[in-house]
Amino acid sequence: MEYTKLGSTGVDVSEICLGTWRFGMESEGVLETDRETAHALLDRFAEAGGNFIDTANAYGDGDSERWIGEWLTERDREDYVIASKVYWAEESRFDQNLSRKNIRAEIEGTLDRLNTDYLDLYYIHRWDDDTPIEETLRTLTRLVKEGKVHYLGASTMAAWKLTKALWTADAEGLESFTVTQPQHNAVYRDEVADYLDVCADQDLAVCPYSPLEAGFLTGKYERDGDIPEGSRGDIGTWFDPESYTDRQWATLEAVQAVAAEADATPAQVAIRWLIERDRFTCVPIIGARTVDQLEENLGAADLSLSDAQTERITDAYRE
Ligand SMILES: NC(=O)c1ccc[n+]([C@@H]2O[C@H](COP(=O)([O-])OP(=O)(O)OC[C@H]3O[C@@H](n4cnc5c(N)ncnc54)[C@H](OP(=O)(O)O)[C@@H]3O)[C@@H](O)[C@H]2O)c1
Repeated sequence: MEYTKLGSTGVDVSEICLGTWRFGMESEGVLETDRETAHALLDRFAEAGGNFIDTANAYGDGDSERWIGEWLTERDREDYVIASKVYWAEESRFDQNLSRKNIRAEIEGTLDRLNTDYLDLYYIHRWDDDTPIEETLRTLTRLVKEGKVHYLGASTMAAWKLTKALWTADAEGLESFTVTQPQHNAVYRDEVADYLDVCADQDLAVCPYSPLEAGFLTGKYERDGDIPEGSRGDIGTWFDPESYTDRQWATLEAVQAVAAEADATPAQVAIRWLIERDRFTCVPIIGARTVDQLEENLGAADLSLSDAQTERITDAYRE
């Protein structure tokens, strides 16, 4: 596993980050990743050299942070870069809120569950239209001063809101976002084009979520085929494999063709395509429900794509 500087920060992270959204999550009565599997995934990721782990207070109603915290007690905390998020509430009754009161309540619960006294990276999970961004940034700046948080990050939001936050931090002398977490992958690009332009221009690291478009880019869904039983397309609520457009299917075909050429799998090629984005530091946050899926996805670290292969995937979506 190679390491890279996380954008303009001084911290070195593995070129792949482990996502833990499914730890403790129940979909249609199915527990997607149980505690034992969660710990096996963390073990395998660490064994492969991974040091960057993504969670949120809201994942699995706190179980994701809790199970990572348990796992960390057997490890050296300093070996890992732990990111979590605030917006949806676990501790406070002020749901979906980035007020001083909510952030203050949420950070304590997060640190407690993770069994640590600091977070390497703290993202705002969404934008809060009802709290001035200045209040949010002032509160986050205090957390950095107190040593509870090292770096600040921003997840999904409109490009103009990200720009407004950067401008506010600059104008008010506050800590600024240095890392971002948009949805982004080979078939999810137009929607985040403006956001990514801001990241490239302002030297913000990009940690894309859903790098496999929730499994679409593994090739497990066929255009007119049955949806595999138990897959996210079957039990998940935010993903509909039947909603994809012609150019998204054409891009998947390009990913599959490059995979055949490179003796790799479509999942590995899709993850590698992100790592090799050259306009900004790009560290995909991979989701895997089983150790076998993780094993396959980690293969992206050993892969290298030629310029022609990268362009083939990029161009398939444009066409
Ligand atoms: N900031 C945000 O708002 C936000 C939103 C979403 C996610 N995230 C973060 O990003 C991480 C990754 O998101 P994601 O889970 O959507 O990522 P993803 O990698 O696009 O999708 C993961 C899903 O794809 C399927 N899959 C993965 N590898 C596979 C393989 N090799 N073969 C077959 N199927 C495979 C599995 O689904 P099934 O086995 O269930 O079919 C798995 O749960 C999350 O864990 C979380 O940390 C953040």
